[in-house]
Amino acid sequence: MTTTDTTAGAALSKRRQKKNAEREERANAPKLAETTDRHVLYQSSVQDVESEIDFVDEQFEKIRGRKAKLLREDFCGTANTSCEWVRRRPTNRAISLDIDTTVLAWGEAHNVAALEPEARKRISLIAQDVFTARTEPVDALLAMNFSYWLFTKREDLRSYFQSVHRALKDDGILFLDAYGGWEAHQTCEESRECETDDGLEFDYIWEQVEFDPVTSHMKCAIHFEFLDGSRMDEAFTYQWRLWSLPELRELLEEAGFRKVRFFWEDADDDTGEGNGEFNEVSHAESDPGWICYIVAEK
Ligand SMILES: C[S@@+](CC[C@H](N)C(=O)[O-])C[C@H]1O[C@@H](n2cnc3c(N)ncnc32)[C@H](O)[C@@H]1O
Repeated sequence: MTTTDTTAGAALSKRRQKKNAEREERANAPKLAETTDRHVLYQSSVQDVESEIDFVDEQFEKIRGRKAKLLREDFCGTANTSCEWVRRRPTNRAISLDIDTTVLAWGEAHNVAALEPEARKRISLIAQDVFTARTEPVDALLAMNFSYWLFTKREDLRSYFQSVHRALKDDGILFLDAYGGWEAHQTCEESRECETDDGLEFDYIWEQVEFDPVTSHMKCAIHFEFLDGSRMDEAFTYQWRLWSLPELRELLEEAGFRKVRFFWEDADDDTGEGNGEFNEVSHAESDPGWICYIVAEK
């Protein structure tokens, strides 16, 4: 054996040791599913607050001939949508309601704290049950991402609609969203590739875990998967009733809303997928999975 052989052998074993140490470090390192904040993932995958506020702002002005100023966001979670509202114009104010003090604290620390100091004064996060909340009269009231589907009885949903009707100014407008189509009746899973503002890539997975055709009650869950192979299972879960549009129209009218309109998402010409543009419709074509906005005028 030559000196060169011995030196090369030592270098090789050093490299191997280093590789093994790195492999061990990677194996012991906390997984992304353990270290990533589920609210950051939710905001980066589920929400598009800019488009949502564009829709609310434009429709309110079109229908009422004036700009909305005071918005109430029910089931606000991290109040991301309300923050977008107060960022839009110095005359905008928001009242954001959620029953969960933990999610509100997260919203204060991350979303409200990131606003300009002047804008922070125009938003109030309040821990209250939307069912019993009393707030000053508002121009626009939002209950988005199907959150109001947690009311599974007609009487409860009607009472909620009555209470939001009372919470609106005389020319106030309620904005809701809804989804449906035959896929909404299936137990299924669908995933989408997403990325956080900081560049973390992950998969968003929407699962309809259970659906009962007799009651229309459903259990849904959001899971997240990461490139390191880890998975955040049931990051969010929902127990809902899948309401149909005619049921919602009837309940809104029974609650006193004068006019109820539906805005259907247009499809991209090439892919056939929703393109984020919504137009008012009186009828729509049967579709495996549709999404729409509901605009109810006081
Ligand atoms: C689907 S998440 C929030 C969705 C959010 N609005 C969005 O646009 O992405 C539902 C939220 O409703 C809240 N919530 C559930 N029941 C409530 C109630 N009775 N009153 C107020 N908030 C409630 C939960 O704490 C949760 O933060």
